[in-house]
Amino acid sequence: MTTDQDREIAVAFCCLGNICRSPMAEAVLRHVAKEAGMDKTITDIDSFGTSGFHAGDSPDRRTVQTCRQNNVPVNHFSRQVVMDDFNRFDYIFAMDRQNLEDLNYMRPKDSKAKVELFGNYREDMKLDRIVNDPYYGGPDGFQRNFRQLEHFSSVFVKNIASKQ
Ligand code: 4NP
Repeated sequence: MTTDQDREIAVAFCCLGNICRSPMAEAVLRHVAKEAGMDKTITDIDSFGTSGFHAGDSPDRRTVQTCRQNNVPVNHFSRQVVMDDFNRFDYIFAMDRQNLEDLNYMRPKDSKAKVELFGNYREDMKLDRIVNDPYYGGPDGFQRNFRQLEHFSSVFVKNIASKQ
């Protein structure tokens, strides 16, 4: 049997526009996995949107700024989810319930990817499980998103490492 223990793991994040939350999540997980020495295990990290509204765009400047303030490099071009993503990734993490519903609607029955809310990897109950859309709000929304994503990433990496 193949388990998480003896293979490389591919993870993708999904939001609506793929310019605010999911490119931030991708950058944060890459950073957290590297810091934990888990970057040889969690090797493929990407993100996409349920929509193609911003396809080809760089991340929102507020995402870039928040990541930069936390010394996390962010580098991505927006794209829309494609069917092949359900076979490329082991985990596809949705930011909110609408993203989850949209992904589950298009997910093939034999999807390799486990599709779930990233907030399922929450141990600190003071943090909201839902990574809310920050697009029309102020910079505090992006900072709140960052703290959530940093925490969920740490719990996820710890969980994967414990299976090593
Ligand atoms: P994201 O945020 O889903 O976190 O990338 C949004 C970006 C753009 C829009 C909505 C949410 N929009 O409506 O253009």
